[in-house]
Amino acid sequence: MSADRTQESKKHWEKHPRYKSGDAPSARAFADPKLERVCRKLGLTGSETVLDVGAGTGHLSAAWTRRGHPVTALDWADAMILRNPAPRRLRGDAARLPFADNSFDVVAEASLLHHVPDPVAVLQEMARVASGPIVVVEPNRNHPPMFLFSLLLREEWPALRFTAGHVRRLAKQAGLVEQSLETSGWVYQNKTPSALAGWLGRWDTPCPGAAYIVGAFEER
Ligand SMILES: C[S@@+](CC[C@H](N)C(=O)[O-])C[C@H]1O[C@@H](n2cnc3c(N)ncnc32)[C@H](O)[C@@H]1O
Repeated sequence: MSADRTQESKKHWEKHPRYKSGDAPSARAFADPKLERVCRKLGLTGSETVLDVGAGTGHLSAAWTRRGHPVTALDWADAMILRNPAPRRLRGDAARLPFADNSFDVVAEASLLHHVPDPVAVLQEMARVASGPIVVVEPNRNHPPMFLFSLLLREEWPALRFTAGHVRRLAKQAGLVEQSLETSGWVYQNKTPSALAGWLGRWDTPCPGAAYIVGAFEER
């Protein structure tokens, strides 16, 4: 991504008034079942500190908070981070996190990596400030509606590369070891109508053609 495209991307997120809040039914149905499974697999109890990178309005931050975790949320766009419900929130760049090494027990992101020019560098930066797992949630290009949606919007074109295999390769290049990797979910975090979200959320179990890739990694 060129410097111009990076600026364009930042402007895009500064003007995204229709992005749903972390408490919206689709955000809950998107995030809660995925975190429930990841936390069970990783043995997280709720006491671990979490940094949510590219946290936006808080679809993931709110879900970590609902599980009891102390959450810090970081995003580079004021318009997004000011709507994030996390008690600690700050403006910052995912490629240069303003924290010392090993500052958080868990570092997580949702739908950020496909928006950054160098996802490997962002994963390395997430690993630097994490003392424990790095949790990644990204759209799955192999889910047909996600493919079409990504094709139609220029901002989403980089998502056309994202499959579980692609995330595995990025993590490997970042020097991370896989703890779990699956695809799951039929709720689109910002698109599924509220009336359908709760019902569809019940079917969030691992399935190859599902809408999102959910991975957990650790530093080698
Ligand atoms: C699709 S939204 C996802 C927001 C949130 N994680 C969620 O799942 O609802 C992408 C977010 O990444 C943020 N973002 C993109 N590039 C970033 C960067 N380099 N540093 C920090 N935030 C960034 C945008 O401002 C936006 O809020």
